[in-house]
Amino acid sequence: MNKTEIYQNLIKQAKALIDKQVDDVANMANLCTLMYEHIPHHWIGFYRVQEQYLVLGPYRGPVACTRIAYGKGVCGTAWQELSTQIVADVHQFDGHIACSSASNSEIVIPCIRNGEVFAVLDIDSDAFDTFDETDARYLEELVSYL
Ligand code: SME
Repeated sequence: MNKTEIYQNLIKQAKALIDKQVDDVANMANLCTLMYEHIPHHWIGFYRVQEQYLVLGPYRGPVACTRIAYGKGVCGTAWQELSTQIVADVHQFDGHIACSSASNSEIVIPCIRNGEVFAVLDIDSDAFDTFDETDARYLEELVSYL
């Protein structure tokens, strides 16, 4: 399967899995495991907006930092700019927050509801230059179902 086919399959299953009757944490937890099965990157998880911070939510992978301030790191930048951040080499990103020394590239997608960011989806890869516009397009679609 190519990347597009992998994402189409992932999204089909995600749409069936997301339950609008339960809270975000439950759906994010299932989505992390579903993503991990289809796109097994080093770290896949959500940070949720709580007042002026992003606070660690459901994830798969090694332990991570628990709090990220608005505008800080790749995650805080995605929140501040309301836009997906694709980082080919995290070591070149000014202000990158290194939760794991094994991470070399990263994509962060803001989760937006009623025009406001309520969470970000963060995916780290141990390879350089892992993510592109195809990842951005499908991951943006995926979080839109939350
Ligand atoms: N690298 C992120 C921090 C979160 S960890 O990668 C899980 C950042 O710079 O915002």
